[in-house]
Amino acid sequence: MKYTALKGVHDIFPPDVYVWQKVETTAKEVFSVYGFHEIRVPIMESTDIFIRSIGETSDIVEKEMYTFPDKANRSITLRPEGTAPVVRSFIENHLYNQPSPQKFFYSGPMFRYERPQKGRFRQFYQIGVEAFGVSEARLDAEIISMLKLFLERLGLTELNFEVNSIGCEKCRPDYKKALIDFFPDKVGGLCPDCNRRYTQNPLRILDCKVAACIELRKGAPQVINYLCIDCKEHFEEFQSLLRLLNVTYIINPNMVRGLDYYTRTTFEVTSEHLGSQKAVAAGGRYDRLVEEFGGPPTPAIGFAIGMERLVEILKTHNSTFRTPAPGAFLATIGNDAGRESLKIAEKLRSKGITVELGYEGASLKSQMRKADKLGANYVFIIGEDELKSGKIKWKNLKDGSQGEVGIKEIEGFMV
Ligand code: HAM
Repeated sequence: MKYTALKGVHDIFPPDVYVWQKVETTAKEVFSVYGFHEIRVPIMESTDIFIRSIGETSDIVEKEMYTFPDKANRSITLRPEGTAPVVRSFIENHLYNQPSPQKFFYSGPMFRYERPQKGRFRQFYQIGVEAFGVSEARLDAEIISMLKLFLERLGLTELNFEVNSIGCEKCRPDYKKALIDFFPDKVGGLCPDCNRRYTQNPLRILDCKVAACIELRKGAPQVINYLCIDCKEHFEEFQSLLRLLNVTYIINPNMVRGLDYYTRTTFEVTSEHLGSQKAVAAGGRYDRLVEEFGGPPTPAIGFAIGMERLVEILKTHNSTFRTPAPGAFLATIGNDAGRESLKIAEKLRSKGITVELGYEGASLKSQMRKADKLGANYVFIIGEDELKSGKIKWKNLKDGSQGEVGIKEIEGFMV
């Protein structure tokens, strides 16, 4: 029997895992400077949380959720994204009583039953941030600037920042009406889902992935032309602050995002290196969601970075990510030397030096080959003679130098 991973999921192992760790530590460093604190929310939630927030007519809810009944017949869903669980937690734990804004970051796996392809998985990882309690555009600009700094720290300076505003509950009805007026003679050609969306939530037609719908929505009215005065001002202020902070951006009036909870500012960071799944990070405001979930009126904004896509770009940019090499390899001949090597290894490791050992009675030659393969800095050779004399041979595999060192001095030699 040969087991394989499920379709659309993947393992992360060395050396790639070191790219992942680099991304995670950089995110923590940068986000902390902006006052974001980590929050850890469960991987599963009541299904309703996602239906209510992402929206009944969204692709995610209609087609992509991993939903199942638990043993007590409650409907459970593996989180397809992190915003709704964080909002749930924010309200449930009364975090709105803390000084505003409350700012959180999280990381971990998300689950969507999508057709797997390059950059699209069924279990994928996000690092996300959510900030609650401030409606002014300065926070929007700060968040974008933080994302930019994070990407720059990783050496990525050539990504596109696409922004849009999708208005609020005041401007939405006019825009919906414009869409309804645009589509009537095209409805027949839309996919069955979009036929339903046409009456329930025409905005969702704009992010349908079906080719016919993409074609038929060309020339559709753009939300940006239907913004109310407040939303317009907010969007203009947001842009002027982006310019103030030297963030180069483009307005993408066709970006509506695939989740229902957004209001006003939306954005995506895209890369030409990713093919059709080009958004490496995405987010926006969701000023109504906390209230809709039963919390006090609380504006909010956030984004999530797609880890697989980010790692993919980093790997094309920078090929120097390698599994870290050991500082020392202890090659031993015989049982007694093997025992002594354990003691030496533990001493060195307690000083923070990575040590690998030779095992299973391998010949000296094959141990040397292994040390070389691992990229060890030093090899120490310990046999009976060395035990007797108390001096062991070392070889520096980087520059070829070699010599002897007393067993007791090896710590000082390495540190
Ligand atoms: P999203 O656009 O659905 O937004 O996902 C954010 C990012 O996650 C995408 O830009 C992409 O990089 C990555 N991603 C999404 N689906 C997949 C997939 N199937 N495979 C690989 N990567 C994927 C959200 O999830 C929102 N919660 C973001 C947000 C936070 N908005 C406000 N706060």
